[in-house]
Amino acid sequence: MNLSLRKELIARLSKALTKLGLPENSAEISPTAASHFGDYQSNTAMVLAKSLREDPKTVAAQILSQIDVSDLSLRPRIAGAGFLNFRILNSHLVQHLVQLSYDPRLGVPCTSSPRRIVIDFSSPNVAKPMHVGHIRTTVLGDALARIAQFLGHKVITDNHVGDWGTQFGKVIYGWKHLLDSDRLACKPIAELVRLYREVSRLEEENPNVSDKIREELVLLQQGDPENLSIWGKIVEFSWKEFEDVYRVLGIRFDHQLGESFYNHALSPLVERLLAAGIARLSQGAVCVFFPETPKLTDKPCMVRKSDGGFLYATTDLATLEYRIKAWNPDAIWYVAGAPQSLHFQQVFEIARRLGIRAELTHVAFGSILGKDRKMMKTRAGDNVPLANLLQEAITRATQVIGQKNPSLSIEEKAEVACTIGIGAVKYAELSQNRLTDYVFSWEKMLSFQGNTAPYLQNAYVRVRSIFRKLQGTLPETPAFCLHVPEERILALRLLQFGETVPRVLEDFRPNILANYLFELANAFHSFYEACPVLNVEEKLRQSRLVLCRLSKQILGKGLSLLGINSPKKM
Ligand code: ARG
Repeated sequence: MNLSLRKELIARLSKALTKLGLPENSAEISPTAASHFGDYQSNTAMVLAKSLREDPKTVAAQILSQIDVSDLSLRPRIAGAGFLNFRILNSHLVQHLVQLSYDPRLGVPCTSSPRRIVIDFSSPNVAKPMHVGHIRTTVLGDALARIAQFLGHKVITDNHVGDWGTQFGKVIYGWKHLLDSDRLACKPIAELVRLYREVSRLEEENPNVSDKIREELVLLQQGDPENLSIWGKIVEFSWKEFEDVYRVLGIRFDHQLGESFYNHALSPLVERLLAAGIARLSQGAVCVFFPETPKLTDKPCMVRKSDGGFLYATTDLATLEYRIKAWNPDAIWYVAGAPQSLHFQQVFEIARRLGIRAELTHVAFGSILGKDRKMMKTRAGDNVPLANLLQEAITRATQVIGQKNPSLSIEEKAEVACTIGIGAVKYAELSQNRLTDYVFSWEKMLSFQGNTAPYLQNAYVRVRSIFRKLQGTLPETPAFCLHVPEERILALRLLQFGETVPRVLEDFRPNILANYLFELANAFHSFYEACPVLNVEEKLRQSRLVLCRLSKQILGKGLSLLGINSPKKM
């Protein structure tokens, strides 16, 4: 596999830096935001100038005097405060395009250092509805899994369902005293939530109830058959709901080992932590202290309560040990909200003391906000259940489709609405920087204009329609013509797919791929407006057809790496 355009430029820039006695690893190249600046730019001179305390333009001029890119680009130009701008030679673009047109991987290299990666994502809690917040972990985790796998890593996905927590004390108490079987039959999760709430209210009114709740929990933990059987039913109801959501989202897991799976391992784990001197008794509880870890010095982590109960962190440590033993991963990624940051710092630090070497990362994310810029809630002030949200996405997409294309059959409409509605929700998530909070807006995400799934899907449908009209087959050996600027920009974008996908994993940012696909769709729409494809002379027609074929493949592949389907019509 040959280098991407970006990597080629980086290699040449590094060489120039070495000649100048400057650190070669500071060579950085990125695609330009606007094509009149050139195709690629480098801010290396500016970065180096800072540490050298020199004028950036002088450093840029020195680099310019040493860099040899004559076979790749026009002579680079210094712009702005000291950027170096590169415009790739058309002849060189064509060489790359020819390779791309034969490449089944569409220019995306396989990693040279494949790793075994466990991805822990989604992980909702039993007896509570999956709510809108779970969309982030679920969609992000799934996209990262797809991308890592495509890049050649061995990915193991695990849904760490919260099926064993203190919430069961309340729910079992409620089940025994307040259960409404009719409601349970038609809306099980709503009934479980009601039980939980009612019992919480009772507890506030009457402290004696707290003791009863705790008794139920202890009975469950000791394996009491009645409580275990109630617990089993609750878990089953929740699984049904989770599975419905995953089916609509088109998401699957390799493993779904819930917290309960590790129950038997908690007590021996705490004993081992004590024996190894990693944890110690503190006022009847067992805690790990971190006197020498910055940020954790005054934040001990409790692993066993004074009443003998275990905690979230204890389960996560047992889970970690299991994963290391069972799957021997090089890395584990935990896709969970930013508020869990302290928890993961503590768990990772204890893991290190247990001798666990795998690289552990908390892939954190921010919140989804309502129109009022506060945490998104229903009118009654509850979390928005994910199942309802997805249903609404499909209903709204059905309306949009009905207006856009009334000629679709009922079946077609149903399928397209699902592809567009679910795609819109996923893309709204994946096109954001994961760490920033974003405002959830149906109007925005379902719009056919702007950085949205329907816009990208529409580009896909458009290019697909060209092939439906096409008589005859595609040329075997394409000869590319890149005379019209729109052709050239499209070609450049197509060639950038291969350098974009690996960058997603540098900092777990699927939005890099999403934004790339948006640029590609823009380039395709402009090309489509400016360049007739079917009714031009044969050589040009062949060149444009191959650009179209590549656009279709890359849009389709890119969307599928984000977990989004491409419709045939819309
Ligand atoms: N169940 C947790 C929650 O909903 C998320 C679990 C994340 N994964 C983990 N290994 N702790 O908040």
